[in-house]
Amino acid sequence: MNNQNDQSEKPCCQQPRRTFLTRLSIGLSAVIGFVITLPAIGFVLAPVFKKPKAKWRSVGKLEDFKVDGFVLVQYEDPSPVAWAGVTAKAGAWIRRASETEFIAFSINCRHLGCPVRWVDDPKLFMCPCHGGVYYEDGTVAAGPPPEPLERLSVRINKGMVEIQTIPTPLTLTTLT
Ligand code: FES
Repeated sequence: MNNQNDQSEKPCCQQPRRTFLTRLSIGLSAVIGFVITLPAIGFVLAPVFKKPKAKWRSVGKLEDFKVDGFVLVQYEDPSPVAWAGVTAKAGAWIRRASETEFIAFSINCRHLGCPVRWVDDPKLFMCPCHGGVYYEDGTVAAGPPPEPLERLSVRINKGMVEIQTIPTPLTLTTLT
């Protein structure tokens, strides 16, 4: 008699427990999925809401720069993420035009951002990627770059040469 009662109670009591456990596991899966994807969503959306600011970076002592001729300097990109590693390194070409005047260009080609190099003999900046060529004042001499090299502000602060850095790469070409 008692046994019969147990069997008749089972389906009625197990059903709510099963429903509860199903909902609990779905809820926990949703929470875990949200926690895992949150950093990725933040990484993708962060640049939309927070524009990286330009920063002044020291690139060497004033006496290290001889008048004339471009020198390559390296600095940390102003917008690196914590795990950027070596990709956070950026560069610029600096020329000491006179005792007090400096000219600096971002190393990145304005076509697709490849690093340009200064060649002393023809006095041109060459881009190795698609043949972009720039004059020593940064204007385009040949190839696909749509605009001159990005000019960076330079200042002398306590005997050090500083450049105002900008996030890289700098490209004006949009993918369509
Ligand atoms: S990236 Fe320099 S020419 Fe294309």
